[in-house]
Amino acid sequence: MANTRTVTVINGDGIGPEVMAATIRVLEALKVPLEFEHKDAGTEVVAKYGTNLPHETVEAVLRSGVALKGPTGTVVGGGLPSANVGLRKRLDLYSSLRPVKSVPNVKTRYEGVDLVVVRENTESLYAGIEHIIVPGVVESLKIITEKASTRIARFGFEYARKHGRKKVTGVHKANIMKLSDGLFLDCCRKVGREYPEIHYEEVIIDNLCMQLVKDPSRFDVLVLENLYGDIVSDLCAGLVGGLGVVPGANIGERTAVFEAVHGTAPDIAGKGIANPTALMMSAVMMLDYLDMREEARRMEGAIQKVYGDGKVRTGDLGGGATTRDFTDAIIAAL
Ligand code: NAI
Repeated sequence: MANTRTVTVINGDGIGPEVMAATIRVLEALKVPLEFEHKDAGTEVVAKYGTNLPHETVEAVLRSGVALKGPTGTVVGGGLPSANVGLRKRLDLYSSLRPVKSVPNVKTRYEGVDLVVVRENTESLYAGIEHIIVPGVVESLKIITEKASTRIARFGFEYARKHGRKKVTGVHKANIMKLSDGLFLDCCRKVGREYPEIHYEEVIIDNLCMQLVKDPSRFDVLVLENLYGDIVSDLCAGLVGGLGVVPGANIGERTAVFEAVHGTAPDIAGKGIANPTALMMSAVMMLDYLDMREEARRMEGAIQKVYGDGKVRTGDLGGGATTRDFTDAIIAAL
């Protein structure tokens, strides 16, 4: 097919293959001009490759420029470094973009939540630089650079400008980490001066968490360093119905990897009951990124319709539908 784009597909672990199969079914039903190249990553392929992030997978994403990825598991404590963090570093996917929006008919404590979490993806404590100084004392280094902080701030303000958003909030703990978070804030302020039409404010991370659960409508675009962004993303997912419904993207200069915020959900893996909405909405973000806007709106519209009708719901949202039932309903709504 003319103008067919190749997308690297990484199923991942746990519920990854289930939600990925569902999402690919919808993309195929949409008849988008995409070709899917399947590659491996995650704990379940370590025996085959001796690593959770095979070189050929990274190469494939570098070639295609775009990947759709399921979650990959990471052992707590020891074990291999995270495949996710590795992929983000190797592809320099410096920004993580997570739009958090209320889903029609999904009752939560809040209505009309519509905010965007912009997370720096390559440094902070996630640099993973840890060592034992003497037995019983461990040092973990938080790396913050002017380069990475400036580019994530620019990404946040550019996103705000492009999407008509009114406010950017720089999140920090610079009252305690005066140098590292201080540098991060400095970069946000400098970049912010180039966007006079967008209101810029700063909030300390602990206060942000309290404000978010009190009144999430107070926020618009949040810009955070890596660890704060990770934690706040899950908090925000809880505001709109949980991890099953929040999409995400990891974006660099030349490549982008689209994946849900949730993990491998080992407690429900293999049961066919996972909610595929988050990965489906990540695929919608991918279609927009690829400038396939009409298909993006059709897919998004079908998901909204199924929620709007309120008949087919997966277990995480109090329904009894399986992943397949839900996917069938989306395809019917297309
Ligand atoms: P998790 O997101 O896998 O699960 C948390 C809870 O949310 C569980 O009760 C799970 O059943 C539920 N849940 C998550 N996604 C769901 C969905 N689509 N439908 C219905 N329910 C859903 O978080 P957890 O348990 O902390 O992490 C499990 C593994 O996933 C770990 O190894 C972690 O490292 C990995 N992980 C990977 C990520 C990635 O690859 N992007 C992101 C987050 C965690």
